[in-house]
Amino acid sequence: MEIIILPGAEDVAHTAADIIEERLRSGPSVLGLATGSTPLGTYRELIDRHRRDGLSFAAAQAFLLDEYVGLPASHPESYHSVIRREFTDSVDFPADAVHGLDGASYPAAEAARYDASISAAGGVDVQILGIGTDGHIGFNEPMSSLASRTRIKTLTGQTRRDNARFFAGLDEVPEHVLTQGLGTIRQARHLLLLGLGEAKADAVAAAVEGPVAAICPASALQLHPHVTVLLDTPAASKLAHTEYYHYTLGRKPAWQGF
Ligand code: F6R
Repeated sequence: MEIIILPGAEDVAHTAADIIEERLRSGPSVLGLATGSTPLGTYRELIDRHRRDGLSFAAAQAFLLDEYVGLPASHPESYHSVIRREFTDSVDFPADAVHGLDGASYPAAEAARYDASISAAGGVDVQILGIGTDGHIGFNEPMSSLASRTRIKTLTGQTRRDNARFFAGLDEVPEHVLTQGLGTIRQARHLLLLGLGEAKADAVAAAVEGPVAAICPASALQLHPHVTVLLDTPAASKLAHTEYYHYTLGRKPAWQGF
């Protein structure tokens, strides 16, 4: 894992956009997209670069991480709607290049279809991830199998309360989701974990410096050969080895890239 601690959320968004831009400019790309608040700054930066510098997504495809079960795609808070509203409708992805899970389908069949469609696209090149306050990535809640594939999961009370801000009230937050599994996510070639704000500090510390354990699903990233963790200073505030992370970043060879 490469741990990059930056002063603020804008720096995280800028660096994440740099990594994605480099991938897009290197050829046809498959991006893995998270929803939620954390990647919004990155998406805004990518939209700016599309408008200002002509950064193009015309040769790219995208796969979403997860979806609420029971919300039709047309619901404003379905991840199908959110990602289009916040990002993909504002750049030049080809029609049908943005893939998501159908929360209204029979879950087992939909999960199998989705894993097969990611494989058919050649796998994900760069996967953007946020982290839940309970250490989830995608919607792999604590005790998710580290080898799990896309499947239905039940949200914890904590995650439903965290996400209630997007709905009229807690009762409207679905209890079930379809999510790429930890095994599915770990097949992406480059994982980009973004962490913003003090509320994520405990989960980030457990994921990065704790043991690999299902109690903190994001700790499964320690088993992946290419993970970049981009944190603002509050999200990094519970890490024990910040001095070393700053030291290594200061000595990063210019040729190395992320
Ligand atoms: C959403 C997702 C979740 C979020 C996480 C953090 O597609 O996969 O793991 O990344 O719940 O959410 P925010 O960014 O809203 O704090």
